[in-house]
Amino acid sequence: MLTGKTAIVTGGAGDLGNAMARHLAHNGAHVVIWDIVPQVEAAAAIKRVRAHDPGVEYAEVDVRDRAAVDRAIADLPQLDIVCSNAGIVDAQPFLEISAENWRKHLDINLTGCFNVCQAAARRMVAEGNQGRIIMTSSWVAEIPWPEITAYTVSKAGVNMLVKQMARELAPQGIRVNAVAPGIVNAGLAGRQLREEPQYAARVAKAIPLGEPGRPEEIAEAVVYLASPQTAYMTGSILTLDGGCSLFQFDS
Ligand SMILES: NC(=O)c1ccc[n+]([C@@H]2O[C@H](COP(=O)([O-])OP(=O)(O)OC[C@H]3O[C@@H](n4cnc5c(N)ncnc54)[C@H](O)[C@@H]3O)[C@@H](O)[C@H]2O)c1
Repeated sequence: MLTGKTAIVTGGAGDLGNAMARHLAHNGAHVVIWDIVPQVEAAAAIKRVRAHDPGVEYAEVDVRDRAAVDRAIADLPQLDIVCSNAGIVDAQPFLEISAENWRKHLDINLTGCFNVCQAAARRMVAEGNQGRIIMTSSWVAEIPWPEITAYTVSKAGVNMLVKQMARELAPQGIRVNAVAPGIVNAGLAGRQLREEPQYAARVAKAIPLGEPGRPEEIAEAVVYLASPQTAYMTGSILTLDGGCSLFQFDS
């Protein structure tokens, strides 16, 4: 389905990004993983993708560094699909959020997306390539969740970035959408589930379908957003959250 396409996945050494990379490669795409961790530390994650794309590439790129992002985009022989997925969460109650905590969420989760997606879109437009841009948002972009204000605000910004880019790039045929995972038992939420008892207690009551999601489910949604089936879709936020964002009554 994606044979002949080249896809970047930022944060591709992490749990959700790595699943995206594997599933894109499994569907025929050539994958380029970007992450901030040194290649040696990402060896296992790269190996998992190599099973599907023997030529998978890895580059150490900090999405906050615009010059590095521009260089890495220019270095690619081809670019068709961008998964702007790198992200962090560092929970702090609202009254205790430090300037540094606030800034790092916006720098990585929002400005990082802007850097990668604008650089990629510029290249797609210059080449006349009607590419696909897929950001990783979150169900909490729309729903306040305790102690992660900087994170939810950054993801709300991602949703509007998707819509702005979709609107302005539609004439060039570039589709811009997001996948919005719920609580996945891996990556950022997986760590919170293991390390923050108050988070696990809240989660136990928050998922109408009763259990956390899996990275593979999010990755399949990304493949869908990259595929010809979604050629008529742009500016959409595809939510996979087990019903978390439905209004909930205690019953
Ligand atoms: N896990 C969940 O339940 C969940 C839910 C909703 C949304 N998300 C989103 O999914 C995305 C992936 O997160 P994950 O859960 O797989 O976590 P993860 O920590 O496993 O992966 C995130 C990756 O991003 C990389 N990264 C961090 N800062 C970077 C930077 N400046 N430049 C480049 N790479 C950087 C990390 O090294 C890591 O490999 C994030 O955007 C996150 O907000 C996750």
